Amino acid sequence: MTATQTTSYDADQLQRRLREHLLLNFTDMSGFKSDDVPVFVRGEGCHVIDARGRRFIDGLSGLFCTNLGHSYGAEVGEAGARQLADLVYTPTWHLAHPAAIELAERIADRAPAGMDHVFFTSSGSEAVESAWKLARQYHLANGEGLRRKAIARRSSYHGTTLGALSFTAYTEARIPFEPLAVPTHHVSATNAYRHPQGGDEAAFCAALLAEIEDVIEFEGPQTIGMLIAEPVQNSGGCFTPPPGYWPGLRALCDKYGILLVADEVITGFGRVGHWFAAERYDVVPDMITFAKGVTAAHAPLGGVVVHGKVAEPFQAGRTTYMHGLTWGGNPLSTAIGLKVLEILEREDVFTRVREQEPAIRQRLETLLELPLAGDVRGAGHFWALELVKDKATRETFSEDEADWLLGDVLSGRLAERGLLCRLDDRGDPVIQLSPPLIADLDLIDQIVDILGDALVHAGERFAAR
Ligand SMILES: Cc1ncc(COP(=O)(O)O)c(C=O)c1O
Repeated sequence: MTATQTTSYDADQLQRRLREHLLLNFTDMSGFKSDDVPVFVRGEGCHVIDARGRRFIDGLSGLFCTNLGHSYGAEVGEAGARQLADLVYTPTWHLAHPAAIELAERIADRAPAGMDHVFFTSSGSEAVESAWKLARQYHLANGEGLRRKAIARRSSYHGTTLGALSFTAYTEARIPFEPLAVPTHHVSATNAYRHPQGGDEAAFCAALLAEIEDVIEFEGPQTIGMLIAEPVQNSGGCFTPPPGYWPGLRALCDKYGILLVADEVITGFGRVGHWFAAERYDVVPDMITFAKGVTAAHAPLGGVVVHGKVAEPFQAGRTTYMHGLTWGGNPLSTAIGLKVLEILEREDVFTRVREQEPAIRQRLETLLELPLAGDVRGAGHFWALELVKDKATRETFSEDEADWLLGDVLSGRLAERGLLCRLDDRGDPVIQLSPPLIADLDLIDQIVDILGDALVHAGERFAAR
């Protein structure tokens, strides 16, 4: 389907100039020898339109961030323009400005009880590194300087800058940069589909927590500074926690003096129907890292919500946070964050996400009758479909088969049918969906229809291989 352009672009020229000058993130250019690199020029509601006028469903919300879709740019832009007319920039080093103060207050008001301070960054990776530095300095101020190690989870993604990469468990992204800054032990993710006790939630939860306690005891509890985990883990495919898991993490961290960090760079600001997923999973962490949804992708902004307990040594002047970022809490991004929070509340977006969740699950589960569809999991507007070779045994694909299936078969078919989503084979292969929070059930039906067609097509191709 084509759409009218507001600004016209020469698609061929864009391709040439891109290849001459633009280095892309995580992109194997050999995959684009004869094909276009997708170039998008416009957004409309839950759709984006490429330079050749083709319309796609923004089924991943960009990168889990266009939570309000593409309809509110002009309104948010006006708030940004007003801020720039008033004050272009002032740092949040030794001084401040109203938008940062007000946004910090509003976020703290919506965070779990006692989480009353906010440190701003401009990205999720910086938020994760800022949390680690807060943890280190908190422990140093309390005379516990041995706490130099962290615990994170297998196949997790917490960012790519050198500090955050220590916690990220994406092996290929880590290897070129080792040794990494923070010694980190990676424990099992909440992957019920692949865990021997995954069918029994209580036993599964107990096994996961026992594994962590074992690691803590082995490493030496007095050497561990923080445990970082996503409430619903993205990489690997939307691993939701079994009941009791987050309260269990809280209890373990309290027992051993470890700070608990919920990385809510994706789940924060409504992705699973709440301001923070911590509320949904019944935990008050020591820190919450956030980014993406706080501005719904209208400007770069991230940060850390900090519990009063962790903020105390810094607030009391017992230590000084030895960390700062020029753009952290800048006026433009924080003014945009304030406007986005206003829209999220005005449009009652999270209620709709919570209300739609059962229907989204039910529609996605209809795909389990089709070839290759092994498991559906997720929450809110955040879902994954795991692909398997044999549904009865849950046998997964070899690396070659997964590359072929995702790269040569499914990606082309989904693009032809106009769906942007993620095909991820960093762990067992999954299709990931994360539609804008404003997406309605009609759009979900369209997505499910496209996925169904692609699975049937892929099943036939695989059988004939
Ligand atoms: C859970 C999580 N943490 C951290 C990051 C890093 O954020 P950024 O890419 O903004 O640095 C991401 C990015 O996707 C993420 O999903």
